Amino acid sequence: MKKGLLLIVIFLTLGLLLHTLPSVGQESEEEAEYPTYPIIFTKPLKAVLFEHKVHVEEAGLSCEDCHEDIFPMEAGATQENKDFNMQALYNGKYCGACHDGETAFASNTRCATCHIGVMGWKRLTGKEKGEKEE
Ligand code: HEC
Ligand code: HEC
Ligand code: HEC
Repeated sequence: MKKGLLLIVIFLTLGLLLHTLPSVGQESEEEAEYPTYPIIFTKPLKAVLFEHKVHVEEAGLSCEDCHEDIFPMEAGATQENKDFNMQALYNGKYCGACHDGETAFASNTRCATCHIGVMGWKRLTGKEKGEKEE
């Protein structure tokens, strides 16, 4: 009788453990949260738009596909590099690591998909003429 009770306690404990463990596992498998605001590059050319949602949700990429080998997790960092330009992209660096016409549309096509121009930059940042532009 005592043995039976012990077994029940063990089964209940196991049941609880099995119930909680998988949900812990699921959470750690989920991707970390990405910025929901647009990343806008303004150097050397104003402006280029990068959206995490398109890449993570729609293209199904994971953080490690870009961070930290291709891009640091710091908005504005990459545009300080002197070689952040189209030639580098054509050579397979930065966005060009994927935008090569195979993994994603090529960097020498659909310019306006990445380039939103000064008007697009103003619309997204809410900055008007006369305000200090960086
Ligand atoms: C397709 C490439 C790509 C993928 C995939 C990607 N990121 Fe990024 N991420 C970028 C770029 C580009 C920047 C801006 C870097 C810069 O300006 O130098 C950035 C910046 C960031 C920043 C800094 C934001 C800030 O305001 O400083 C964080 C945080 C970040 N990413 C998190 C994530 C997480 C979490 C994931 C996975 C869910 C992810 N990223 C997936 C390209 C990517
Ligand atoms: C790790 C791979 C990877 C990197 C790096 C990457 N992209 Fe992408 N990107 C993709 C994929 C995959 C798609 C979706 C397939 C497609 O549109 O060809 C995509 C889609 C896009 C789109 C959406 C196109 C549309 O139809 O709406 C834009 C804009 C874009 N990328 C810009 C950028 C910019 C700007 C950078 C660099 C700052 C960049 N991407 C870096 C893989 C990447
Ligand atoms: C996949 C995204 C993407 C596409 C497509 C793209 N660009 Fe770019 N472009 C960038 C990024 C990123 C930079 C560097 C950041 C900045 O200047 O704001 C850049 C910078 C530039 C620059 C300034 C630096 C330089 O190389 O002289 C010019 C000019 C330019 N692009 C023209 C074009 C033209 C023209 C096309 C179409 C034939 C095009 N881009 C297509 C992402 C793209």
